[in-house]
Amino acid sequence: AGSLTGKHILVTAGPTHEPIDPVRYIANRSSGRQGFAIAAALARVGARVTLVAGPVALPTPAGVDRVDVDTAQDMANAVATALPADAAVMVAAVADWRVEAAPQKMKRGDVPPTLQFAENPDILATLARSPRRPRLLVGFAAETEQVVEHATAKRTRKGVDWIVANDVSGDVFGGDANTVHLVTATGSEAWERLPKDAVAARLADRIADALGSDQ
Ligand code: C5P
Repeated sequence: AGSLTGKHILVTAGPTHEPIDPVRYIANRSSGRQGFAIAAALARVGARVTLVAGPVALPTPAGVDRVDVDTAQDMANAVATALPADAAVMVAAVADWRVEAAPQKMKRGDVPPTLQFAENPDILATLARSPRRPRLLVGFAAETEQVVEHATAKRTRKGVDWIVANDVSGDVFGGDANTVHLVTATGSEAWERLPKDAVAARLADRIADALGSDQ
């Protein structure tokens, strides 16, 4: 396998938290473990890694530059600041919507409050269309059914090179193992169920091969 020495790779990981008021938020279910494992694996094969992390309880992997964020908007800004990059692996489970947050803690009353949602930026799709698009752009797709079909459609819709399609119909959230398909322009590969560290190591090898062979 190749090395990633001299390459800068951006990784997003974890959920985002979207405040409702100063003490409450909505979030996505994500432990951040797969994204952190990918950042660690990329650093291990020599890449300079910027890890933009949502709120998670995980230690920073060795040799990784970590930028902590809370909201999707913060994450979008941190990603823009981290550019340029040779590759980006967007693993974060970004909240699709933010809430028009109340400035003070909302009080219990006669009627429950109604939340007003606004759309968050799609960080991955924005990066795909940006003049500073990394040469290799990898997205994740959490699917519960028709995993490859949905991921293949997402690959073209989002304008990314690869999609790692994650079968989340089982116990993947917070767990140790992952069942993924790698969907590229030439088709899809089913990987056997693997520990998240092994998924990360294999993906890092593939990224090293791709960045080494087409410059
Ligand atoms: O469209 P969907 O959310 O399923 O796409 C998942 C992929 O897009 C993941 O790579 C995720 O990190 C990325 N994404 C993003 N910004 C969003 C939503 C998803 O970067 N607002």
